[in-house]
Amino acid sequence: MKSIAVIGSGTMGNGIAHSFAQHQFKVALVDVQADALTKALATIAKNLDRQIAKNLITEADKQQTLANITTYTNLAEAVKDVDLIVEAATENAVLKEKIFQELDKYAKPEAILASNTSSIAITQIAAVTQRQDKVIGMHFMNPVPVMKLVEVINGYATSADTTAKIMALAQQLDKIPVEVNDYPGFVANRILMPMINEAIYTLYEGVAGVTEIDTVMKLGMAHPMGPLQLADFIGLDVCLAILKVLHEGFGNPKYAPCPLLVNMVTSGKKGVKSGEGFYNYQHGTKDLVVAEKFR
Ligand SMILES: NC(=O)c1ccc[n+]([C@@H]2O[C@H](COP(=O)([O-])OP(=O)(O)OC[C@H]3O[C@@H](n4cnc5c(N)ncnc54)[C@H](O)[C@@H]3O)[C@@H](O)[C@H]2O)c1
Repeated sequence: MKSIAVIGSGTMGNGIAHSFAQHQFKVALVDVQADALTKALATIAKNLDRQIAKNLITEADKQQTLANITTYTNLAEAVKDVDLIVEAATENAVLKEKIFQELDKYAKPEAILASNTSSIAITQIAAVTQRQDKVIGMHFMNPVPVMKLVEVINGYATSADTTAKIMALAQQLDKIPVEVNDYPGFVANRILMPMINEAIYTLYEGVAGVTEIDTVMKLGMAHPMGPLQLADFIGLDVCLAILKVLHEGFGNPKYAPCPLLVNMVTSGKKGVKSGEGFYNYQHGTKDLVVAEKFR
């Protein structure tokens, strides 16, 4: 595989484009919003500068990486000649189904269609295409250029050949792929989200405060950040949406989202992106200040 299209140029799409372009793939980066593409290129350039500052790459590598990326607002034009498409558009099942129908129509018959979804079933996305054997999950972690893991998710109909190609491709990006099957939350979020939810229940039931809960998990379990801070970084709305997928998908009450999380999202407290979650981020993310409500 030589040429790749990435659909969606937000947080994940720009990181995925960066990683492929840095490893000498030609990347067509697609978004419905032209300004999202401009912003993505600026973010990629800034992140490449960080890699230069750490002596990981040279200025020439940066220029080559940027030259490997072409931006498009027209999906049909962007995907017509590529070998692989990685979809990283907004997390919405209806939207993804629509995108996959278009990809199926405009991409070469042999092209593989991958999704970076955090929680939507790969089997469901594949079912809208005429090439279910060539649809797979390629779940990168944020920030993509830094994080080693790629969770490779086999849909019900994904072929062994497609899986083998994607596992090999992830290694070419200097990542470590892990193969898993398509059940709600896959592996990463099935384990992470119940831990975050339990941390929120621990706060909700008054067992301990925000700082205490995060400190126990940081110092006691050697986690780089506490679960409440991590939830703020992921986005409380995203955590809630994934917990709902687990709850509905398994029909097991153990995944029911904590009412405190539901209330926070309903009132617009979504974590870092909204300026407040369990912590207040009005003055940035460096110094942790517990939100007024939890002091
Ligand atoms: N943010 C994370 O930490 C993270 C981690 C792993 C996986 N994911 C998954 O990656 C995907 C993208 O998440 P994100 O955080 O980058 O979202 P984001 O909101 O930052 O970016 C989404 C982009 O998709 C674009 N888009 C929407 N509809 C489109 C369409 N029809 N065609 C092309 N582009 C379209 C939007 O304009 C936006 O720029 C989601 O499926 C999410 O679940 C996110």
